[in-house]
Amino acid sequence: MTLLRILTYPDPFLKQPVHPVTLFDDTLQAVIENMAETMYDAPGVGLAAIQAGIDKRLIVFDPAADADKKDYSVLINPEIVSAEGQMISENEGCLSVPDYRADVKRYAFTVTKGLDRFGNPVAIEADGLLSVILQHEIDHLNGILFIDHLSALKRQLYKNRRKKALRNEETA
Ligand code: NI
Repeated sequence: MTLLRILTYPDPFLKQPVHPVTLFDDTLQAVIENMAETMYDAPGVGLAAIQAGIDKRLIVFDPAADADKKDYSVLINPEIVSAEGQMISENEGCLSVPDYRADVKRYAFTVTKGLDRFGNPVAIEADGLLSVILQHEIDHLNGILFIDHLSALKRQLYKNRRKKALRNEETA
């Protein structure tokens, strides 16, 4: 098992849509295990392959974030096929957006279709935290970060703060 390095804003890799998975081989299984390990280590409730610099439509998630049970789910080539209602996802954060949390407007209920780690079709009806995780992680696969859902002003304030933090890291 290898811990993967998580890319952070403003890495340009995070801004592009990534490609569907077509091969369900041992290499893919190893990538999935490394992603899960990296998610629990971070710790986070979800991780998209793009965040580890991997060009695949692949996410892992565990709303319980239980590093002992490691009862995580995998969804490959996921698509939200229906979405209804609205909710505020309070204090949403992202492993690729360090030191920042904000309230994000999300759908309240979603139906997501995709494939499991062996390529079998699955559908997930979700609300609450699970639905928010799916919306957040699937956004990643399309090059979208949660800060892209905020007002231009809030986003700019974060960008400025992040630039300053990175400058300080360089000079430290
Ligand atoms: Ni994220």
